[in-house]
Amino acid sequence: MKVFQSSGQIHGEINFLKEQGKTIGLVPTMGALHKGHIRLIERALISCDVVVCSIFVNPLQFNNPEDYNKYPSTIANDTKLLEEIDCHFLFHPNYEQVYGQSEPREYDLGNLNEIMEGSYRPGHFQGVANVVMRFFEIIQPDMAFFGLKDYQQYMVIKRVTQQLMPDIQIIGVDTIRDEKGLAMSSRNLRLSEEEYSSAVKVPALLKKAGLRLEKYTIPQTKTWFEKQVNKLPHLRFEYIEFADANTMVPVDRIEKKQSVRVFTAFYAGEVRLIDNMAI
Ligand code: PAJ
Repeated sequence: MKVFQSSGQIHGEINFLKEQGKTIGLVPTMGALHKGHIRLIERALISCDVVVCSIFVNPLQFNNPEDYNKYPSTIANDTKLLEEIDCHFLFHPNYEQVYGQSEPREYDLGNLNEIMEGSYRPGHFQGVANVVMRFFEIIQPDMAFFGLKDYQQYMVIKRVTQQLMPDIQIIGVDTIRDEKGLAMSSRNLRLSEEEYSSAVKVPALLKKAGLRLEKYTIPQTKTWFEKQVNKLPHLRFEYIEFADANTMVPVDRIEKKQSVRVFTAFYAGEVRLIDNMAI
């Protein structure tokens, strides 16, 4: 695996490969790699000749400085994992290499900026859009791969890419869960044993919330879910929302044939976790 820190160098190398007709896949990450990330890279390796994994903890997308400062960094282990699965390039730039002197841009995120993660984490999606668009300019991928664990982020990227770089294909990859059902996340490393044992119960509750709609309304189900989460030690409920999977408009009832997902965010101790699933 080739490791690049310079944007100019990887850009040059990619140009050379594209001239030879190679297809390029990009998997952007913030490191502390786990099986969820690895699945994205494996998926990219199936579809593209050359796969780039980027590792960059993007300060622009952290609305909470504590979360940024405590973000785990395990670069030696990450490099080893990427080598084991035969990822071709690792791009591990610093801030200067990503942004240079340029000012952050303001993207049109529509309603995605107003709901759920958009409203609870002001500025977060603008930060994500800025860094991903910068990576798209540097790497010029044919395809880029994102986890559906961060479904709203996936929709943000699809929207901005469609507007500005419509030739890039955005591929969503299903959520990978640990053996107990908790969605894999780099932030899980920060959970105590007690926090983990509570957090791990949330995915089953979320699934149950979907099933309860056979008998109860969405508002009733939301109240039920909030109570269940808050009953678990160390957990603090933040939101539950049901939204159309294509438009992301929140719904209070589901129409026939409408595809809807259920989304939640909660704290386990100081660690904020999110999850979502199709219902
Ligand atoms: P990060 O949290 O490191 O995640 C990188 C990619 O891995 C994202 O597309 C995310 O959705 C995916 N991912 C994380 N956990 C997953 C899981 N359990 N199953 C499937 N996919 C999973 O998301 C980011 O970084 C950043 O916001 C980024 C897009 C890199 C921009 O800075």
